Amino acid sequence: MRLFDLTGKVAIVTGSSRGIGRSIAENLAAAGARVVISSRKAQACEEVAQSIRVAGGHALAIAANISDQQQMGELVARTREQLGPIDVLVCNAASNPYYGPTTGLSDEVFAKVMHNNVLSNIWLCNLVRPDMEARRNGAIILVSSVGGLHGSAVIGAYNISKAADMQLARNLAVEWGPHNIRVNCIAPGVVRTDFARAIHEDPKVRAMVERELPLRRIGEPDDIGGIALMLASAAGNYITGQVIVADGGAMIR
Ligand SMILES: NC(=O)c1ccc[n+]([C@@H]2O[C@H](COP(=O)([O-])OP(=O)(O)OC[C@H]3O[C@@H](n4cnc5c(N)ncnc54)[C@H](OP(=O)(O)O)[C@@H]3O)[C@@H](O)[C@H]2O)c1
Repeated sequence: MRLFDLTGKVAIVTGSSRGIGRSIAENLAAAGARVVISSRKAQACEEVAQSIRVAGGHALAIAANISDQQQMGELVARTREQLGPIDVLVCNAASNPYYGPTTGLSDEVFAKVMHNNVLSNIWLCNLVRPDMEARRNGAIILVSSVGGLHGSAVIGAYNISKAADMQLARNLAVEWGPHNIRVNCIAPGVVRTDFARAIHEDPKVRAMVERELPLRRIGEPDDIGGIALMLASAAGNYITGQVIVADGGAMIR
C-alpha cells in the first residue's frame, strides 16, 4: 500500500470530533499520519484522539473555532510545536446557520457563512503554506459540497460558500502548484452525520432521497474518508485543483 502510506506525515483535520471529519482523521491515522483532531469542544476532540491512540494511531486534540483567526493561528502553531511541520491540511468544519430563500437572507448571516466556510479556509491554507513550501510537498483538502454545483431555494448562501471553496482550490492549485502543493475539494452528497440529520432521521424523507439516488443509499462518513486519504497521499500526487464528487450518483441524474 506504498501509494497510500502516510507514515510520519502531520495532518490537521478541522471538524474532526464527529461525522465526515472524524472519518477523515481516522483514515489518515490508519495510514500512519499523526493527526490533529480539532473542533470547538475540547472533550469531544480528546475522545476521538484517544480512540485513535487505542487503535494504535497517533493523534493529538487541539480545540479551536474556525471563525476565530487567532485560534486558527494557535492551532497551526501548536501542531508545529508538538508534531512538527504540517504536511496535510483538511478544512472540513463549516457552518450552515440559515435555511430559507436568498430574499430573506440578512447581510450578517451571509457574512457569517462566507467567514466560516471560505475566509477561515484561506487563513488556514496560508498558515500551513510555509511548511509545505519549505519541503516542496503538501496536500490541502477542502470539504465542499455538491451544493456548490447546483442551485437551491433554501440553502443558497451555504451553496455560494461551497462553490467558492471549489474556486479557492483552483486558485491555490495554480498559485502553489510550482511548490508541489496540491489543493483539491471533495464534494459530498448527503452523508449520514448530524449535519444532515433532517434528511436521514426522518424515514419518509430518507426513503424519498434514496429512491432518487443511483446507488439507492445516502453516504456514510467513510465514503468520504477514503477519498481524503487518496488525495492526501502519493496516490493523489498528480491531482490538483479538482473537485471529487461523492454523492451516490445524485449529480449525474
Ligand atoms: N453531511 C452531509 O450531508 C454533507 C454534505 C455535503 C457537505 N458536507 C460538508 O462536510 C463537512 C463536515 O460536515 P459533517 O456532515 O461531518 O458535520 P457534523 O457531523 O455536524 O460535524 C461537524 C464538525 O465540525 C465541527 N464544527 C462545527 N462548527 C465549528 C466551528 N465553528 N469551529 C470548529 N469546528 C466546528 C463540529 O464539532 P463542534 O461542534 O465540537 O465544534 C464537528 O466536529 C462540512 O464542511 C459540510 O458542509 C456535509
